[in-house]
Amino acid sequence: MTATVTSTSAQPAAAGTGFPEGFVWGAATASYQIEGAAREDGRGPSIWDTFSRTPGKVFGGHTGDVACDHYHRYVEDVALMADLGLAAYRFSVSWPRIRPDGTGPVNVRGLDFYDRLTDELLSKGIDPVVTLYHWDLPQTLEDRGGWTSRETAEAFADYAEVVHRRLGDRVATWTTLNEPWCSAYLGYGNGVHAPGKQDPAGSLAAVHHLNLAHGLAARALRAAGARNISITLNPCEVSPLDPANSADVEAARIIDGVANRIFFDPLLRGEYPADVLEHISRITDLSFIKDGDTEIIHQPLDVLGINFYTPSYVSAKPGQPGALDYPGSEGIAFRKPVGPVTDIGWQIEPASLTRLLTRMHRDYPGTPLMITENGAAYPEGVHDADRIEYVDGHLRACLDAMASGVDLRGYFAWSLMDNFEWAEGYAKRFGMVHVDYTTQERVLKDSAKWYREVIRRNGLS
Ligand code: NOJ
Repeated sequence: MTATVTSTSAQPAAAGTGFPEGFVWGAATASYQIEGAAREDGRGPSIWDTFSRTPGKVFGGHTGDVACDHYHRYVEDVALMADLGLAAYRFSVSWPRIRPDGTGPVNVRGLDFYDRLTDELLSKGIDPVVTLYHWDLPQTLEDRGGWTSRETAEAFADYAEVVHRRLGDRVATWTTLNEPWCSAYLGYGNGVHAPGKQDPAGSLAAVHHLNLAHGLAARALRAAGARNISITLNPCEVSPLDPANSADVEAARIIDGVANRIFFDPLLRGEYPADVLEHISRITDLSFIKDGDTEIIHQPLDVLGINFYTPSYVSAKPGQPGALDYPGSEGIAFRKPVGPVTDIGWQIEPASLTRLLTRMHRDYPGTPLMITENGAAYPEGVHDADRIEYVDGHLRACLDAMASGVDLRGYFAWSLMDNFEWAEGYAKRFGMVHVDYTTQERVLKDSAKWYREVIRRNGLS
């Protein structure tokens, strides 16, 4: 039987290193990062096409034009997933393949691709988990304001319905957005991601319109019969550097507000926290929040996706300039990573994942959780003992959280294969499968073989 992400209710983790029966084992990717075929079959340009062609924005001038050529190699890639024993595969649909200019005519050839992919997955017993937005906004919508404009939220809900109409008979799990924190604050705050804007007020409008986009789409999907609706967030697991120092504790509260509670609370409680509204009203007027918006955002969620990589530690530091990806963070310093880091410089601390999951369970009870991404960048090579250690540590952190009562339904490795790592281009490799970008040959890394055994045993050794 194919496992679906809600096919089991969570059970207490078996003692030791076993996962509960029905725990969903998966791997994740995203359209722009793997598909290539950027100009094929009627696909329109996205903000990442524009951004990656802008000199100086992406390492080495790399683009997603070819990427892993998955658009042409999806059959081979699904065979790899089957070989690993994946129960589920999380992929994203490229909005500009479906609606090349964001709102206009539907491009049937784009839908055809995801139709073929879905059928291929199902034929191998792999559950398709669809993300509707993983950052490739149609460029035409950006030209009209992108996520700073309410129109984009409305257009997203229309697009979501179009995709559901085609795949809804076979796809059970619908994730609206991937990591809206990144879309808002890296896209419109510090400008490290497409569309590369540096506009603190705009980044906050983007947060709200992304929340609204989720609500409008979730409502439309539910009305169309979707059974299992989710959103994937990347909470900042933030701690005060010195928990005994009240100024550090206050710094952590501010960062938690602008990075986390600004998403969690409207989504899961139906309101923005008062302290967050007060904080951001010093940066922008709040006229983009209209009457009734928070009710729309607060749609029932069947599962909440969590992407996790690294912890954050902050301290109060008078005079510290603010970070553009954390609006209003003047006077707050982020500690540089200490101890072991991955190839992208992110501190490795599995206990931070346990803290995050138990906090979610405590503060926002009742919504099942799913790790929709976790993994590590390491230098090129197939003997990746470091990645095995990283994933093993984080799976133990999941077990610890489950042992204390967290309702965690599954784990998706990021990523199935090496791919286009956004501003880092192809220089950073997160895959469990190695990709040779010259030949497009795929080779299982040691971590993929290890993960296959974890899945087979439904547990660690
Ligand atoms: C989160 C993003 O969703 C994904 O696209 C990215 O590649 C990984 N983090 C690693 O940075």
